[in-house]
Amino acid sequence: MAEPFRIKVVEPIRLISREERQRKIREAGYNVFGLVSDDVYIDLLTDSGTSAMSDNQWAGIILGDESYAGCRGFSHLEGAVRDVLGFNYVVPAHQGRAAERLLFQVVVKKGDVIPFNMPFDTTDACIRSLGGRPVNCVADIAYEPQAIDPFKGNIDLVKLRALITEVGAQRIPFIMLTITNNAGGGQPVAMSNLKAVKEVASEYNIPVFIDAARCAENAYFIQQREGGYQNKALAEIIREQFSYSDGCAFSCKKDPMANIGGLIGLNDEELYQKILPLLIAQEGFITYGGLAGRDLEAVARGLYEMTDDDLMANRIRQVEYLGERLDKAGIQIIKPVGGHAVFVDAAAFLPHIPQDYFPADTLAVELYVESGVRGVGLGALAFSIPDEETGEIIPPKMELLRLAIPRRVYTDRHMDVVAEGLKRVYERRNQVRGLRIMHAPPVLRHFLARLEPV
Ligand code: F0G
Repeated sequence: MAEPFRIKVVEPIRLISREERQRKIREAGYNVFGLVSDDVYIDLLTDSGTSAMSDNQWAGIILGDESYAGCRGFSHLEGAVRDVLGFNYVVPAHQGRAAERLLFQVVVKKGDVIPFNMPFDTTDACIRSLGGRPVNCVADIAYEPQAIDPFKGNIDLVKLRALITEVGAQRIPFIMLTITNNAGGGQPVAMSNLKAVKEVASEYNIPVFIDAARCAENAYFIQQREGGYQNKALAEIIREQFSYSDGCAFSCKKDPMANIGGLIGLNDEELYQKILPLLIAQEGFITYGGLAGRDLEAVARGLYEMTDDDLMANRIRQVEYLGERLDKAGIQIIKPVGGHAVFVDAAAFLPHIPQDYFPADTLAVELYVESGVRGVGLGALAFSIPDEETGEIIPPKMELLRLAIPRRVYTDRHMDVVAEGLKRVYERRNQVRGLRIMHAPPVLRHFLARLEPV
């Protein structure tokens, strides 16, 4: 089946020359975050806020009600959150990390421990800034890029129980599942795992929250891979996922295809009431939360759109298409291919570059120079953290180049260009040299670092 949409508006893009690309990346401190988008041909930096909105979402933008209090868009958002996610209370926020921060400020205390499958980087940073400690409890197979498993985002229940026993339930304010697991390659969490985590949490009276950014992609994998879900509609599976949780923080810039927006969904009125004063102080009044009324409309409509079975099947097919092309060329990728991105194993691609010289970021730079394609390195530059006791810097277990595909934006021809570019880098991989840091802040350094070739 071809795309279940046709193209009504187009945005020109241009490929600058190789010499220009070499100059631009040098000026950007060998960090793809420093590039301006006009110098990028195909932008796979992120699938966040970069998707193409539908005509229906754009129509919502025009109809947006900009009243300060009680705008129509908020009622529509409440309706969508109730229908699609199953939560009665909605806290709007300008994006996912703002929603998380509002929730975490109320529930995380200094010294708390929060079990995750794996937190996203800004989520991790937010919890640490509040004195909490996120702990990865993802199943070990998540760290084996080549191991095929349908649900590599699952929490390992043995690790979870061991952690609860070790630190005590009173120090665990909640458990959080990122669906799909972005930091682990966009890998899904099984419905059976969501259910089992909720059961363990209930034994100890610990709430479960979902980081829902890609909950519709996760539901699609459940539909395709988990027994008993083949004949269920995506909409039904999405809702069931949330039934095993007490709430969610949601970046609506991903699956709902809005350019901006986030929310918290809850059924606990008391918790909702505690968040409201912070919401007003930090984001805006409770019915707009830092968004324009028009954005609320785009999010509300996007929440319904993300439940479309054909749209999702087509989206995942395109991500798989890119993955297959790279796989056929002998380039090692995380398998199975994730929901929103293809993750290239940069450590396997550039085995001669030690982790200290940032193979993932090096590969992102090389791909840009080769073909004007912007991916992002997710490895030691992004995820190294100091050990709590010794202060020693611990690098992450994987070095990955993420090629995140915006929804409804690029064609398969664009994917061909991406694959060809990476294949050309692969052919000359032995000549590629690593990068070292010139300047970097102590945290979230991959966004701001300036580097130079070794
Ligand atoms: N949670 C997950 C799983 C995410 O992937 C992101 C953002 C957030 C929370 C934060 O949401 O950006 O709206 O504040 N991920 C983007 C990415 C930035 O490129 O993967 P936000």
